Amino acid sequence: MNKLLALAAAAALTTGAQAQGSKAELDAVQRAVHVCASCHGENGNSSKALIPSLAGQLREYTIRQLKDFRSQSRSETDIQAYMWGISALLSDEQIEGFADYYAAQKPAAGKSTHSKLEAEGKAIYEKGLPAKGVLPCKQCHGDNAEGAAGFPRLAGQRADYVYKQLQAFRTPLRPHGVVMRNEIAAMTPQQLKAVAAYVQSR
Ligand code: HEC
Ligand code: HEC
Repeated sequence: MNKLLALAAAAALTTGAQAQGSKAELDAVQRAVHVCASCHGENGNSSKALIPSLAGQLREYTIRQLKDFRSQSRSETDIQAYMWGISALLSDEQIEGFADYYAAQKPAAGKSTHSKLEAEGKAIYEKGLPAKGVLPCKQCHGDNAEGAAGFPRLAGQRADYVYKQLQAFRTPLRPHGVVMRNEIAAMTPQQLKAVAAYVQSR
């Protein structure tokens, strides 16, 4: 992971933005996805623990995240370092272009690494923790963690990244995650790790 790559993506986009019109913007998106791939993986399937996969992600969610980076409202340290610079240069049309591109890519199969932890996570994912007011995750993220409308796909996302986001929701760094903050308020770190392991395995 390298900040120079973020600068290269910014440069690719600026060159495209100088030409007028949506055709030129789409060309710029095509060039820039190669740069996105250096971190997010070929076709948006990441092989790095702390970099999310974008393949198969729901369009609406990707659009909202890129806009939240551009307005600097989503502000975890790595987002500031790697995503603020690139997103600052994006037009709404380019953001939609990236979201369409990644929504159409085929997500890689999930990776199972810890079956006992995954079983614990599956129970929470499907049934919630009624005594603690934790809703079943599937109610919003889909039966197979495939996502739905504004709710992101989680299936196959690396457990390290997922756990890190669940912690971020407890801070003011993801203001659009207030639903998630309430959802996980009563969960222990062990329970968060369990659901993270489970969604990675899907
Ligand atoms: C230099 C590495 C790097 C490059 C290049 C890069 N990203 Fe990222 N991106 C990251 C990291 C790291 C995160 C997650 C940070 C975190 O939340 O901990 C991220 C997060 C994201 C997210 C949020 C995903 C989610 O599940 O919430 C989206 C969307 C995204 N990037 C899109 C893009 C697009 C589109 C490009 C190309 C224009 C791009 N990124 C280029 C490193 C990069
Ligand atoms: C009531 C609906 C709802 C429920 C239930 C819910 N979520 Fe979410 N979740 C959301 C929304 C909305 C977002 C997007 C937040 C944003 O835009 O930043 C989200 C985002 C996430 C993300 C961030 C994904 C990424 O790519 O960065 C993770 C991880 C997540 N949820 C995990 C879970 C888990 C695990 C559970 C069950 C314990 C759960 N969610 C239950 C609505 C829900």
